Amino acid sequence: MKLMAFNGSPRKKWNTATLIEHALDGAREAGVEVELVHLYDLDFKGCSSCFACKRHGRKEIGVCALKDELRPVLERFKEADALLLGTPVYYGCESACTRAFLERLQFPYLNYADYSKPHFPGKIATGLLYTMNIPESRLEPLGYPPMFERTRANLARHFGSCELLLSMNTTQYSDYDKFETGFDKNDKARQRAEQFPQDCQAAKELGARLAMGYQS
Ligand SMILES: Cc1cc2nc3c(=O)[nH]c(=O)nc-3n(C[C@H](O)[C@H](O)[C@H](O)COP(=O)(O)O)c2cc1C
Repeated sequence: MKLMAFNGSPRKKWNTATLIEHALDGAREAGVEVELVHLYDLDFKGCSSCFACKRHGRKEIGVCALKDELRPVLERFKEADALLLGTPVYYGCESACTRAFLERLQFPYLNYADYSKPHFPGKIATGLLYTMNIPESRLEPLGYPPMFERTRANLARHFGSCELLLSMNTTQYSDYDKFETGFDKNDKARQRAEQFPQDCQAAKELGARLAMGYQS
């Protein structure tokens, strides 16, 4: 059993990556092999709309035809038993790199002839994790939940099921005095000390659940 995790933040040691690492710990403790891919390390773009993945008589089903550094990753993903994707929120959305990845990951598995039967072989458990600067009270006014739900539902539709985890009011800088900001550094420090460890624990539990595989 193998869990593949993808970090959609350019930062490899900050909020998103830290939560992913906790999820991977949870999965490892459950005896599962894990692989972490930092998406920003790879040279790739989003879907080119070539429709090779929709052509009748195509040789391969499910892996994007574009030949770049993402392709071998997508080949490996085909054999994965669980997926975890983590991304920061950028301008009310996933990071650009994450969005490009989602296009390339999902579109080849989308069955235009029958949306209810994706081309992905079998069903796997997936997890979707967002980190963001805003506190929980701003989620609804800024209209974030439908964005989370759209991406969560797409992953569930392509692969089987998808659990959502949100980490809010994250710390952006190690020293708020050195950067332009309108945020209360004491509130941020409190969040880091009190809430973030709970988010890490929730991520660890998510990783353990993903390690159990798809549950109908
Ligand atoms: C380009 C950019 C755009 C951002 N846009 C938002 C946003 O729209 N909403 C939000 O809550 N946070 C926003 N943030 C903050 C990040 O989502 C937040 O700090 C996140 O936890 C960073 O993840 P990381 O520490 O893993 O890099 C933005 C950050 C950057 C760099």
